[in-house]
Amino acid sequence: MTDATAEAGERTTGRGLFITFEGGDGSGKSTQASLLYEHLVESGRAALHTREPGGTDVGHEIRELVLHHRGDIVPRAEALLYAADRAHHIATVVRPALEAGTIVVQDRYLDSSVAYQGVGRELDAVEVRELSLWATQNLLPDLTVLLDIDEADARGRLDAANKRFDRLEAQGADFHARVRTAFLALAEVEKDRFFVVDGSEPVEVLAARISAHVDALIASPAAAHAVDSGSL
Ligand code: TYD
Repeated sequence: MTDATAEAGERTTGRGLFITFEGGDGSGKSTQASLLYEHLVESGRAALHTREPGGTDVGHEIRELVLHHRGDIVPRAEALLYAADRAHHIATVVRPALEAGTIVVQDRYLDSSVAYQGVGRELDAVEVRELSLWATQNLLPDLTVLLDIDEADARGRLDAANKRFDRLEAQGADFHARVRTAFLALAEVEKDRFFVVDGSEPVEVLAARISAHVDALIASPAAAHAVDSGSL
């Protein structure tokens, strides 16, 4: 893959903390995002749980289109649809929450576009990343939790779940192998931002590890500044 480095993009500028979850389909990231959100709320933190695509009304319509449209969507159009959802979601939901001091826990963000559209669909990874940075006026997460899991095991989980596959889930094993490799490469480039965990571990073990990592981040001096004020 092309090296998508962190040259452009800024971390959260407001007082909140922006935490994203990434991973292949069936990696368990949605479960872990929910559990982290519950942990934060139980700890008395102001938190918001959201997702892409589909974190707004407009985004919900884009989600239906990009995941369930029956005909072909060319890769560049697909990339633009995810970027459009992201632009609206970040401007209307995520930035205002961060500015109010909220911890935003988000299921998928720009790394998904780099992995799925940039590498899976074989567009240019750097260009796809630039597109998302343009769409979001350069917002990068403070922390990205990557759930890494063998793509065949993940496929087994999806099959067992017995729900209809979306356009991306329906891609073949090669596609999902490329996506997994891309996520790991991104984590390697931005070691400070990524926290990589083994998605095959038991749910409770993973949840405890992720919560502990986030609690430590909140307690660190830089992040403490980010989440201390506002409604906390
Ligand atoms: P997700 O909501 O995680 O799926 P589900 O709720 O069914 O578990 O993501 C939907 C699909 O969208 C997933 O296959 C990954 C894909 N995707 C992209 O290809 N690019 C993106 O930028 C994003 C955010 C998601």
